[in-house]
Amino acid sequence: MGAGDGRFALGGRYASYEGLEIDKGRRPLAELPSNAAIHYKCAFVHDDNGYAACIGNPPYVRHHDLNKTWRDLIAKRLGDETGQQLNRKCNLYVYFLFLALLKSRSDGLVSALVPYEWVSRPSASSLRAFIDANKWHVDTYRFTEPVFDGVLTTASISVIDKRKRDGQWCYFQLAANGDLAECGQVTGASGKILPYDDRGRLWAMRGMSPGTQKVFTLTEGQRVHAGLKHEDVLPCVTSLREVPPDLSHLTHTAFRKRFIDAGKRCWLIKSHSDTISERLQAYLDHVPKKQRNTTTCTLRDLWYRFSLADVPGLLISTGFTSFGPKVLVNSVGAHAVGSVCGVHSDSNIGFSRVREYLTRIDFEKRVVPHAKQLKKVEIRQLNAVLNSFSQWEVRDA
Ligand SMILES: C[S@@+](CC[C@H](N)C(=O)[O-])C[C@H]1O[C@@H](n2cnc3c(N)ncnc32)[C@H](O)[C@@H]1O
Repeated sequence: MGAGDGRFALGGRYASYEGLEIDKGRRPLAELPSNAAIHYKCAFVHDDNGYAACIGNPPYVRHHDLNKTWRDLIAKRLGDETGQQLNRKCNLYVYFLFLALLKSRSDGLVSALVPYEWVSRPSASSLRAFIDANKWHVDTYRFTEPVFDGVLTTASISVIDKRKRDGQWCYFQLAANGDLAECGQVTGASGKILPYDDRGRLWAMRGMSPGTQKVFTLTEGQRVHAGLKHEDVLPCVTSLREVPPDLSHLTHTAFRKRFIDAGKRCWLIKSHSDTISERLQAYLDHVPKKQRNTTTCTLRDLWYRFSLADVPGLLISTGFTSFGPKVLVNSVGAHAVGSVCGVHSDSNIGFSRVREYLTRIDFEKRVVPHAKQLKKVEIRQLNAVLNSFSQWEVRDA
């Protein structure tokens, strides 16, 4: 499925191989054996099924980039055939895995090169539920080295064996030299994966996406150069990369040192406002069309009018490399933008205590690695952690 030039047809022992490839421009390899053929059509309109094995390196396409009508049609069809409610936010490769499970015979095998995250992401939960309902056996081999250039996700070879009906999920790590190691847990470490939860009285909210950071967030130099005054901007944080892990409070002094003087994007323009100063309007009028040609901007009546989120009590970098994310008590009232998320509360909570609680948790052991070095904690996982804060306070007191 998504056969490309048919390279997966080389080397195997089989009676016949049928490749499905939508792109007529991907010509078959000259050395394709005579019992292998490639059909140029969409895998989802191919009628045949009952295959002994369905294999592939399906395309990875995020849900925003899929044609909505096509996506809904396919999701409904796969849902009807599997009895599962597909999450419309899943990546295209999840639809391909569903299709492979439907097209392989009842004792067949599905093997695909897909991002490892499908074993834990909520958007793929219907796929896991379908596999669990049938008690099929799953082996996932997570590559410990990046195998695709420029793809910021950990790849895996995932094998679903319909013959073995033991309902087991086995997780392996696969090194570049071919060495295999079995890991007990999906995280590849000793901890159980963090659960996902809804908002409680303390909650995490993803960083704002005002449009494009290039236009909406400025460095101090860019602010001055654009002739904008402090009343035209709000403090913001787009990355905590340069902040030392032991810095606990983003005070005015720290903000000046780490963000303003360090030339970081630290000013969010106040283009959300009903009243825009002449200076800011002049800046907006001079933004080249090409720069503001983002989906977010083009969908708005006024391309620059974003909705401003509340100032969070804590700033957290969702990506981290070891132990846990950086957490800062937000003493400057900075807005969280992009991959920096915020923690909010509906009561007068002491955020220093929440920071203390969060920075003691070994997140590294409890999340699925995102890429070789990079780990990422999801917003709903932070919510699950935050929902246990009050229990921790009682215990720790
Ligand atoms: C990641 S590439 C893998 C190609 C090949 N297996 C390889 O390893 O080189 C995914 C392939 O899926 C094809 N594709 C995308 N959508 C498809 C569809 N609906 N039906 C069939 N092929 C599709 C793309 O054209 C592309 O060639």
